[in-house]
Amino acid sequence: MGAIFSALQNAIKGLKAAISLLINLSSEFNQALKRASQPPGLPAPEPTEPYWLNDPPFPKLVNVRSYELPQTADVAIIGSGIAGAAIARSLLHERRRCNIDTKEKVVVFEARQLCSGATARNGGHIKVAPYEAFARFSKEMAKDRAAALVRFQMQHVETLIGLCKNEGIEIAEARSVQTVDLFLDDQTFREAVESVEEMKKYLPEVEISVWDRQKTRENFDANHSVVGALSYRAGAIWAYRFTVSIWERLLADFPDNLTIETDTPVEAVNATDDGPEGFPYAVKTTRGTLYVRHVVHATNAFASHLVPGLRNKIVGARAHMSAQQPGKNFTSFDGMRSWSIIYKGGFDYVSQRPCPPGTTQGDLLLGGGFMRSAKQGMDQIGIYDDSLTLDALTVSHIAGIFPAIFAPKWGMGAGVKQVWSGILGLTGDSLPFVGLLGTKFTGRNVLTQKIVSPGAHQHGEWIAAGFCGEGMVWAWLCGTGLGIMIAGTEKQHVEESPGRPGGKLGEWLPRELLVSNKRVRTADISNLANQI
Ligand SMILES: Cc1cc2nc3c(=O)[nH]c(=O)nc-3n(C[C@H](O)[C@H](O)[C@H](O)COP(=O)(O)OP(=O)(O)OC[C@H]3O[C@@H](n4cnc5c(N)ncnc54)[C@H](O)[C@@H]3O)c2cc1C
Ligand SMILES: *[C@@H]1O[C@H](CO)[C@@H](O)[C@H](O)[C@H]1NC(C)=O
Ligand SMILES: *[C@@H]1O[C@H](CO)[C@@H](O)[C@H](O)[C@H]1NC(C)=O
Ligand SMILES: *[C@@H]1O[C@H](CO)[C@@H](O)[C@H](O)[C@H]1NC(C)=O
Repeated sequence: MGAIFSALQNAIKGLKAAISLLINLSSEFNQALKRASQPPGLPAPEPTEPYWLNDPPFPKLVNVRSYELPQTADVAIIGSGIAGAAIARSLLHERRRCNIDTKEKVVVFEARQLCSGATARNGGHIKVAPYEAFARFSKEMAKDRAAALVRFQMQHVETLIGLCKNEGIEIAEARSVQTVDLFLDDQTFREAVESVEEMKKYLPEVEISVWDRQKTRENFDANHSVVGALSYRAGAIWAYRFTVSIWERLLADFPDNLTIETDTPVEAVNATDDGPEGFPYAVKTTRGTLYVRHVVHATNAFASHLVPGLRNKIVGARAHMSAQQPGKNFTSFDGMRSWSIIYKGGFDYVSQRPCPPGTTQGDLLLGGGFMRSAKQGMDQIGIYDDSLTLDALTVSHIAGIFPAIFAPKWGMGAGVKQVWSGILGLTGDSLPFVGLLGTKFTGRNVLTQKIVSPGAHQHGEWIAAGFCGEGMVWAWLCGTGLGIMIAGTEKQHVEESPGRPGGKLGEWLPRELLVSNKRVRTADISNLANQI
């Protein structure tokens, strides 16, 4: 989904001819900017129901919480999605590795049920379109840095599949897929093929096959509406089941150090000296106030609610997803293939679950159609409510696109099983924010106290958020990196282990992702308009 920005730009460019529409759209854009400058609020209490949450594997964890909140904690992590899980795991594992014996807790706050945000609502695609991402990043930075970012994204395929294998998380269905980008117009296809050529100079290890119209029909069953295709390797995962499996293991592994408090939204964070010495932050929740040393924002689209300096930098946008039974004539790949459908001004993304035993077809998970709403997607930007009535035009697009491009190799018996929405966290430079948040962002000033152990921060506010609809290829390693920063071990050379790369943090976490004052400008959402 990271291409949303280029898609928006394209949409606006394409409309330049139609002046009246443009004026309309720019007024829509202005309204979107206006919404983006408002606080997001808290996640809606009764969201649409995603397929991924059906039949939860750990029913006891869905509403897990302690009887009473503690008065203090070492670290408060706000948000229990994939980013929160990666941060908690990395921090707890680092402390254990360094024999840091702290009785103080890591407390996770979640506004709703455990992991019920974007992670439970997504497409489950562990996919970056390397040629598209490389072209996009190259506009803003040197080509070798653009390549480093794409490599970091692609690394998630191995990392997540490897971690699931190592920890025996079979229920996450983490798997490698052959992914196919199907193009619906010649110009978009031609430009993509050019991008592939350019990308190859800097990412020679990435293998992408190019298929013309005829070969696309023969090899991928697509009909005449598809003009060409690109295929390469990616992954797919049941992100909710993966994330709650990580939480389940962490709770078992660190019973004295970790608690999770669901249905406990954090309403405010304040710097205060009301609390015990060394606990400079008051975390105000609906169940009482807790004093902590560290506050970690793993709230993705909602981050600017508690970090006012990120307003207009991380902005929510509503997206739609569906689970579908494919037609009887659709060729099954037992979960080993995925698709994107790419057209002027937008794209859709599709994965398919492995066939359940005794069946010949797994369910398709199909999302997109972002530009299909009445106002070409503009009316979905700055929207934080995933309980609203679904957008009918978007839903009709995602319900109809597969039969339209696969007929007659689709057939009867198809049906949409479930449709839901979720909130993406977009940033103006299409990169997430990772690291220590300064006063400029938080508006909260804590006087630095005496440093007791060198290297380790005594207190601070931290973030890993703004994954631009591509969290499966950002969030895990960003969260893992952030856990290392909070532990204060980023200068240590560490062996590779499941879920984390080897070496010092700076050797694998691209510096472009770090929070910096420069990004106050570059990540501003209004850059979208300037670039047109
Ligand atoms: C429809 C849709 C489809 C997507 N498809 C894909 C895809 O195919 N591939 C891909 O890579 N990415 C996809 N994404 C993006 C991906 O799902 C996200 O980037 C990723 O899940 C973000 O993880 P997270 O942990 O940062 O956020 P989340 O999973 O949203 O977790 C944040 C949590 O914070 C909680 N929270 C927020 N505010 C507060 C508060 N004040 N107090 C307490 N708790 C709070 C929320 O309730 C939420 O549970 C999609 C997203 C959507 C919405
Ligand atoms: C606490 O922080 C919130 C924002 O998170 C703010 O609105 C409020 O005024 C602050 N309260 C105090 C006492 O500083
Ligand atoms: C492509 O799909 C449409 C239906 O959406 C169908 O009418 C047409 O015959 C198909 N084309 C081919 C070549 O199969
Ligand atoms: C679909 O499959 C059925 C049975 O496998 C076959 O009889 C039928 O001709 C197929 N339809 C098309 C349009 O290919």
